[in-house]
Amino acid sequence: MFRIGLGHDTHRLIPGNALIIGGIQIEHDRQAVGHSDADVLLHAITDALLGASALGDIGEMFPDSDPANQGRDSAEMLRAAYQRILAAGWNIVNLDCVIFAQRPKILPHRLRIRQRIAALLDRGVDTVWLKAKTGEGIGPIGEEQAIAAECIVLIERSH
Ligand code: CDP
Ligand code: ZN
Repeated sequence: MFRIGLGHDTHRLIPGNALIIGGIQIEHDRQAVGHSDADVLLHAITDALLGASALGDIGEMFPDSDPANQGRDSAEMLRAAYQRILAAGWNIVNLDCVIFAQRPKILPHRLRIRQRIAALLDRGVDTVWLKAKTGEGIGPIGEEQAIAAECIVLIERSH
């Protein structure tokens, strides 16, 4: 039995010196704002997994009203969601993701991001794909006020 899940996330950008995307730090002149480490891609992936398995969403698992989640490592949140879907008897087949960012260029970092996500999910790198699109210079993405990400995931019954 197969199921699919969809995740989406947006974070506001402010002047800074690095972005954390997919568990990787990328030098940049802006940073994302959030209650946790504001890793927009890992948040979208976490929600996609929880959606596919009908096990909740990231805000439910890690409420931003809880001080314990302040500055939390999004990799840790993804691992917690992944453990939850494993325990419920699901395997991940593949993920496909899109980053929406005017800058920086994501392609030069793609392999490293894919490797990091695959490692967090105990999968081979071919399990994870990633694309990036600009905002064509318009709107919150294009004007670099925001960064967004989407992820779609396929899972299958393991037992
Ligand atoms: O050409 P098109 O309008 O479809 O897309 P774009 O948003 O202009 O982006 C062109 C290409 O740049 C993308 O297909 C990616 O390969 C790359 N890109 C990137 O590496 N990092 C971004 N933040 C945005 C785009
Ligand atoms: Zn987020």
